[in-house]
Amino acid sequence: MPGRLQNKVALITGGNSGIGEAAARRFTQEGAKVAILARRETEGRAVQDAIRAQGGEITFLPCDVTDRAAVEAAVAQTVATYGGLHVLINNAGGGAREMFPAESDETWNRVVGVNLTACFLTCRAAWPHLIKAGGAAIVNVSSLAAVSGVSEAVLEKFPTLPSASYIAAKAGLEGFTRYIASLGGPHHIRANCVRPGQILTRRLTTAAGEHVFARHFEIWQLLKGPGYAEDVANAMLFLSSDESRFITAEMMNVDGGAAAKL
Ligand SMILES: NC(=O)c1ccc[n+]([C@@H]2O[C@H](COP(=O)([O-])OP(=O)(O)OC[C@H]3O[C@@H](n4cnc5c(N)ncnc54)[C@H](OP(=O)(O)O)[C@@H]3O)[C@@H](O)[C@H]2O)c1
Repeated sequence: MPGRLQNKVALITGGNSGIGEAAARRFTQEGAKVAILARRETEGRAVQDAIRAQGGEITFLPCDVTDRAAVEAAVAQTVATYGGLHVLINNAGGGAREMFPAESDETWNRVVGVNLTACFLTCRAAWPHLIKAGGAAIVNVSSLAAVSGVSEAVLEKFPTLPSASYIAAKAGLEGFTRYIASLGGPHHIRANCVRPGQILTRRLTTAAGEHVFARHFEIWQLLKGPGYAEDVANAMLFLSSDESRFITAEMMNVDGGAAAKL
C-alpha cells in the first residue's frame, strides 16, 4: 500500500531532535523523501543514519534557520537532491528562561529569530517550489503559549515558564500562517499550525523533571497522561497529507485538551 506521503518531498526544520525528529521518522515511514535542517551536526547525522538504516530516504543539511543565505542554500539543495518540494515543516524553535522585564534584547532577538523570522525565510525561499508542486502544505509549529498568556493561574501550571519573546513569536507565527494561507490558496498551497501543549520530549523532562509534567497532566489537561513527540508528528502528518486537502489557516491543538481549560 502506498504511504500517505508517497512521492512527496518534505523539508523539516529542527529535525535532529524532539518533535522534528519524530516527524522525520514518521514522514519517511509514509514514503516521503525528507530533508532535515538544524545546527548540531552530530545529532543531525545520527538521526539521518538511523532513519536510513530503516530504509527511509533522508538527508541532514546543517543550517541555522535564522541565516537567510543558509536557508536559501538548504532549500535549493533539497530541491536539487529530491527533485521538488511539497511539504514545509517549520518546527525549529525554543524559548528562554528570562522573564519580562528582565529579558535582554539579545534573548528577544534570538527567540523571535528562530520561532518567527525563520519561518518567513523558509517560506520565502520555498515559495516558488511550492507553487511549482501544484499542491503543497506548510505546517508551522506554534505552542499553547501563543494563546495562554501568563496569568497567575498559568504561571502556576506551566512546568517551564514561557518568555515574552516566545509568546509573542508563536502568536506572530499564527498570524503569519493565516497570511500565507490566504496567499497560498489560489496556488493550492495550504498553511496550518499545530499547537502543542506540554510534550514529553527528552529535553524538557531533563530541564523540568518528570514530576512537574505529572502535575501538569493532572491539573491542566482533560486527558490524564503525557503527550509525546509522536502525537505531534501524527498531527503534522495529517496536515501535510492530502487527507487534509480542504483544511487551511487552521490552528490545531495537540495538547490533551489543555486549551479547553484556559
Ligand atoms: N516540547 C514541547 O512541549 C513543546 C510545546 C509547544 C511547542 N513546542 C515547539 O515545538 C518545536 C520543537 O521543539 P522540541 O520540544 O522538539 O524541542 P527540541 O528538541 O529542543 O528541538 C528544537 C529543534 O530546533 C532546532 N533549532 C533551534 N534553533 C535553531 C536554529 N537557529 N537553526 C536551526 N535549527 C534550530 C534544534 O536543533 P539545533 O539546536 O541543532 O539547531 C532542534 O532540532 C519548537 O518550535 C517548540 O517551540 C514544543
